[in-house]
Amino acid sequence: MDINKKFIDYFAKATEKGAYGASLFVGKKDKIAADKSAVDQMRRELNTIDMKGKVVIGEGELDEAPMLYIGEELGTKKGEEFDIAVDPLEGTNFTANNLPNSLSVLAISRKGNLLNAPDIYMEKIAIGENLPDDVIDLDFDLIKNIERLADAKNTTPSSLSACVLKRPRHKKIVDKLNALSVKINFIDDGDVLGALSVGNKKIYNDIYLGIGGAPEGVLVAAALKCLNCQMQTRLVYQDQEQRERSKKFGINDFEKKYSI
Ligand code: FBP
Repeated sequence: MDINKKFIDYFAKATEKGAYGASLFVGKKDKIAADKSAVDQMRRELNTIDMKGKVVIGEGELDEAPMLYIGEELGTKKGEEFDIAVDPLEGTNFTANNLPNSLSVLAISRKGNLLNAPDIYMEKIAIGENLPDDVIDLDFDLIKNIERLADAKNTTPSSLSACVLKRPRHKKIVDKLNALSVKINFIDDGDVLGALSVGNKKIYNDIYLGIGGAPEGVLVAAALKCLNCQMQTRLVYQDQEQRERSKKFGINDFEKKYSI
């Protein structure tokens, strides 16, 4: 069932408030204050909406984040039930250092339709629209993924562009892309916008790959689904504590791939 369009305006206003909150701290070298200001503004706005909202992706879990924590109930508690994923300020470093590309992001769904995941890392691969369903897979070697994508696009790997978050953990990805002469567009932060580039004609990339935050992964997957793009993800566990935390969210299959 579709969500009534009036909610789009309400939720868009919540992101505007988040962006406004962050804007008060542009260039002030204080990413925590910028984030908190964005959170406060977004939360206040969300609480004016007639709905029974619940945060499934938020600013951390109850014990570590005072507001917009996972499980927090939002809205006037009257009306429809929604699951809400929020990142009031995505790209905190950008805002703190007066750089472009911060976003205030929010996704909503009917109850039960967004992945409820802890704040850990996530493996991500995304491609644009109008491509066969099975072109890419996180279980394929990267070289195979690139060759299959090039075939599907009737071109060569060296004509493709890839967006990658600049991190030492991505060295193998970068080496393989270089071996195939794929053009790499690095980003310093902000992999929501990075992954979104596969569905955006202005900042276009043929593929997004790498490991980043799981909350950001869920948020961008929601956007890419609306744009008919494809994305596959898998949560990355760094230790047993993260596995235990995931179990509390009902996640017991630690190898599971999530696709849109
Ligand atoms: P913040 O806005 O929370 O600072 O996140 C920025 C970001 O670059 C995300 O876009 C990305 O998913 C994550 O950090 C990557 O994490 P890390 O910096 O630990 O590699």
